[in-house]
Amino acid sequence: MTTTTRLMFDQMQAEIQAIENDVALRAEINFVGRADALDRIEFHLLDRMDDDGNELVQRAQILRDQFAAIDEEIFRRVRAGIANGTLRGECLRQEFDHHVRKPVSSERGYDQLDVFVNGLLRLDTIPHETRTREPEMVFYQPTPARVILELTEMMLITRDDIFYDLGSGLGQVCILVHLLTGARTHGIEFEPAYCDYARHSAQRLNLSSVQFINVDARDAPYADGTVFFMYTPFKGAMLANVLKKIKDATRGRAVSVCAYGECIDQVANEPWLELAAQRRTDVDALAVFKRSGP
Ligand SMILES: C[S@@+](CC[C@H](N)C(=O)[O-])C[C@H]1O[C@@H](n2cnc3c(N)ncnc32)[C@H](O)[C@@H]1O
Repeated sequence: MTTTTRLMFDQMQAEIQAIENDVALRAEINFVGRADALDRIEFHLLDRMDDDGNELVQRAQILRDQFAAIDEEIFRRVRAGIANGTLRGECLRQEFDHHVRKPVSSERGYDQLDVFVNGLLRLDTIPHETRTREPEMVFYQPTPARVILELTEMMLITRDDIFYDLGSGLGQVCILVHLLTGARTHGIEFEPAYCDYARHSAQRLNLSSVQFINVDARDAPYADGTVFFMYTPFKGAMLANVLKKIKDATRGRAVSVCAYGECIDQVANEPWLELAAQRRTDVDALAVFKRSGP
């Protein structure tokens, strides 16, 4: 072993030992601490160690499995509460706060609330794309969970609404919006493998008011929609086309269009919509538009 390798080995050993000795990480309430430790185990340790037989690798894997089992028990209980109808609205919000205490957000990208929501809603295998996207279609990327919560806190969506997520991916937005507001939700998704996954995720939680339709958003039916959400699912002419469809299908009644990400600027240029609320930081923006004209 060279001196550098020896030094690295000693550092890793010390880090693993520190995690092993930290009893607080085994307390169920410490989801955030475990998420940090799992991140360190995965990216600082296992990714840098290449020998499968190495004793350190085995210790890191044991820690990872132990922590994952503690978290899985939390997810199992929360899923059961959702499936039997007790964890909804404020109760579910408190459950999130209980495990992922505020403030977790740096208002940038993903945080530990996403780790929690992913663990809760994830199925065993993440699907791959099976259809070729057109150039204006955007690849799958989930809306950060804190943005979904923020959307449901704006008093915009009630149980009487029909909510559409345009380009619904693996279905998290529709599932969370339904659970937190009671609204019926419809996900519109071009990729059949994502749509199947989202359906299974909702079925596992007994959510019959959450539906996913495998269709190109240009061909989807929107006539019953009252709130439309989009995390930049497509751009340019395709986005203009879908916005016109929504406008025509809902003519003469109030609707909200909520946009997250870079599609905001194009939505803002639609003459039939006016800005009702907006939150914008250097890297992150969420805007709500309401119908202003016919
Ligand atoms: C940025 S992701 C957003 C995913 C989801 N709304 C979320 O926030 O978790 C964009 C999604 O739009 C889908 N998509 C792209 N073009 C589409 C189209 N024309 N019709 C329906 N879905 C489309 C992609 O397959 C992808 O899943």
